[in-house]
Amino acid sequence: MCGIIGYIGKNNAAPILIEGLKRLEYRGYDSAGISVIDKNGNVKTIKKIGKIENLEKSINGQMVIGGLCGIAHTRWATHGIVNELNAHPHFDCQKNIFLVHNGIIENYSDLKEKLIKEGHKFISQTDTEVVAHLIEKFFEGNLENAVAKALKNIKGAYGLAVISKKDPNKIVIAKKSSPLLVGLGENEFIIASDASAILAYTKQIIHLNDGEIAVIGNDKINFTNLDQEIISKKSEIFNEDFNNADKGKYQHFMLKEIFEQPKTLRNSVIGRLIKKEGWAKLGGLEIIENKLREIDRLIIVGCGSAYLAGLVGEYMLEEYVGLPTEVEFASEFRYRKPIFGENTALLCISQSGETADTLAAVEEAKRKGILTLGIVNSVGSSIARKTDAGVYNHVGPEIGVASTKAFTSQLEILVLLTLFLGRQRQMSLVMGQRIIKELERLPIWVEKILRQAPKIKKLAKKYYKSKDFFFLGRKYNYPIAMEGALKLKEISYIHAEGYGAGEMKHGPIAMIDKNFITFGIAPIDSVYEKMLSNLEEIKARNGKILVIATEGDKKIQKITKDVISIPKTLEMLTPILSVVPLQLFAYYCAVFNKHDVDKPRNLAKSVTVE
Ligand code: G6P
Repeated sequence: MCGIIGYIGKNNAAPILIEGLKRLEYRGYDSAGISVIDKNGNVKTIKKIGKIENLEKSINGQMVIGGLCGIAHTRWATHGIVNELNAHPHFDCQKNIFLVHNGIIENYSDLKEKLIKEGHKFISQTDTEVVAHLIEKFFEGNLENAVAKALKNIKGAYGLAVISKKDPNKIVIAKKSSPLLVGLGENEFIIASDASAILAYTKQIIHLNDGEIAVIGNDKINFTNLDQEIISKKSEIFNEDFNNADKGKYQHFMLKEIFEQPKTLRNSVIGRLIKKEGWAKLGGLEIIENKLREIDRLIIVGCGSAYLAGLVGEYMLEEYVGLPTEVEFASEFRYRKPIFGENTALLCISQSGETADTLAAVEEAKRKGILTLGIVNSVGSSIARKTDAGVYNHVGPEIGVASTKAFTSQLEILVLLTLFLGRQRQMSLVMGQRIIKELERLPIWVEKILRQAPKIKKLAKKYYKSKDFFFLGRKYNYPIAMEGALKLKEISYIHAEGYGAGEMKHGPIAMIDKNFITFGIAPIDSVYEKMLSNLEEIKARNGKILVIATEGDKKIQKITKDVISIPKTLEMLTPILSVVPLQLFAYYCAVFNKHDVDKPRNLAKSVTVE
């Protein structure tokens, strides 16, 4: 969480920093700030609460110093309320050192106490401010020396960019467990938490690794470790296209991304379906093909929607591959004592590839020596680089905080993985070909569902004032019930719970009355009859019901008239269809409730702190 940007070069830093911040805003958006330093060491700092546009407005006219070097930050509050004092950049007592930070300083309160005793004056409630004072303590004229010494005292995670009045014309950056990279331009450098912020300037980038420091001057860059020993690093060319990162004709990114799904579902499988062999070609996994044959247990980890995609994957992999699979929140996995066998593998699912808990799960698994795999959207991200092998989603940047196109793509990649592993094992050619045939139809089916948007909008209008929702599903659609509830909570702030419909009788049904809405997911599949009975039980208690059902289903009409239909497909693929109306329903409820759909309160797109 939080986004960092820095610039040093031949151009005015402020406009470049603001543009970069806008691209990073998905990482946090409660406040933002900027410090620009000129050649003589004069620093101007501006901080504003709220979105980047507030900062931009106040800079226009004010930031008239011609600083060619600066740092900026967009915040997602961890320590300390949202106010200007807690916004970054933070500085020391003498206002000599200015820095922006992404991550958490875990031992900040001990350090703060010590520094206060030594006479340092703190003005914010943040963990970050201790770093500025620590650097001040060690500063003897050279910024990188002071930063290196300060970092040796720090426990926790950081992506850090520091400038100093007394050692101007340079930015010192450092990384541990929080992403940070440098873009190399022509006589200019641009620093950012992720590549999307800098690709307008350069595609040549260098990723920092944990424990590395970079000293960036006007025309040169040096890398060292914390002991200040020189290390050499190579740049790479980043070829991802971020041009589609604008809303186009849509009111919100989320709506655009929902409507993009026919295209993204095509992109995720393009060149990967081998019809003749009923198999999936996954280039990233081919190098470990034989190792994958040996796997006898798979642990899937992720957070939020990625975790829920993993749950759907569990049903697929057990049913079609016969591979014992378990799914866990990455945040739980990292602190358990998981028992690994020799042939256990860990599969991480992450859109951003930067989620702190998921990244920590990879690190834990690597420490234990087990094979790590990834399903990641963001090319070159930390998880993509850390895992032994993996598959990219190729759906382009997802900007809306609530995951939509990345989620359906994650489900699709899990189908590809099922094909890949299944055909290595028990799956017949005919079954493989059948799955591929149905998979290829999905974009057309999703287009068909999207044409029902006006109807879903009407249903949202009918229900958006409701206070409580259950989302119910069974088997493959049980995780989708949880995803539907998560979407509604995330952007509409309506209380919603996702349940396995079979569990209703064991407690939750006590909640049902005429004001409690139930959204059932009841395609015609192996659990259809059971699902109908569960919905009848709710109807018998006067609960209001909406349903997602298979096209042409007459029986469901007896339960409710509020039906959204999805085309018939293989049971294992129904989640990719059934989730789409739920995304639209949550979207329209949020719009009717007048919420900021793309930047819901208290959330951030990329959760890079624990
Ligand atoms: C945040 C986002 C969710 C996302 C989750 C995991 O909570 O708001 O949409 O599912 O993080 O993110 P990842 O990037 O690891 O998929």
